[in-house]
Amino acid sequence: MELEFDFFKNWVRERLKVDLNAYKEKQLHRRIGTVMKSAGAKNLREYADMIKADENTRRVFLDYITINVTEFYRNKDIFDEFEEVIKSNLAPKFGSLKIWSAACSVGAEPYSVALIMERNQLKNNKIIATDIDDTILEKARVGAYKENEIKNIAKEELKEYFSKDGNEYRLAENIKRMVHFKKHDLLLDTYEKNFHAVICRNVTIYFKNEAKNQIYKKISSSLEKGGVFFTGATESIYNPNEFGFKKISTFLYEKV
Ligand SMILES: C[S@@+](CC[C@H](N)C(=O)[O-])C[C@H]1O[C@@H](n2cnc3c(N)ncnc32)[C@H](O)[C@@H]1O
Repeated sequence: MELEFDFFKNWVRERLKVDLNAYKEKQLHRRIGTVMKSAGAKNLREYADMIKADENTRRVFLDYITINVTEFYRNKDIFDEFEEVIKSNLAPKFGSLKIWSAACSVGAEPYSVALIMERNQLKNNKIIATDIDDTILEKARVGAYKENEIKNIAKEELKEYFSKDGNEYRLAENIKRMVHFKKHDLLLDTYEKNFHAVICRNVTIYFKNEAKNQIYKKISSSLEKGGVFFTGATESIYNPNEFGFKKISTFLYEKV
């Protein structure tokens, strides 16, 4: 089984350009086992053949291992704190802001930032949003959300910036235009520089420590001095100074 798993990981890296070696082993084994069985494959070699032959199987596999649950203003209290940092620290300090939402899933996170900019009348900012998954990025560009993804949005904001379409809430074009989506792999690709804030939440939890530390290092060097790194609610950093960060609060770190 181990050998077969190693073969599969190498195959996925070569063919699908996803580095499974960086993901936590036990969790990954379990998830791959589940998705393989639900596809009707008896073993990983057979599953690899199915992924190779069928676009839909490939998509289901990638969606499943890259887990893309998200929502607007996820962990609202912490997002409120981030808004305060933008208003009272970053915008006065830097003027126009360049912000990166990394591993953005269907876009609820970068669009939350766009809404923050809109309601605080902060203009001329650049919001870049990236994810490893092409399918998810397509959904993000469409900007249609389910009830559970918009539950933290205030009634007034919902009324002003979303229109209801069946079971979905469609985000207004002027907000969508504020976010630029592109594909980026946090493990394999190079990182753009000169950001004033990087938001990278609920993705490093799936990675081994070594991979996670590499990501923190690269995020640190992609930030301007005085810029802010916003992590997920279970991803506080124990040794921020090792990465050139100073703790502002449990989930917000300033590049020093
Ligand atoms: C749980 S979602 C997090 C979404 C959002 N950041 C949030 O906190 O609500 C995790 C996202 O990480 C993406 N992802 C997984 N591995 C990745 C990688 N190596 N590089 C970039 N994105 C990755 C997945 O496609 C998924 O959309």
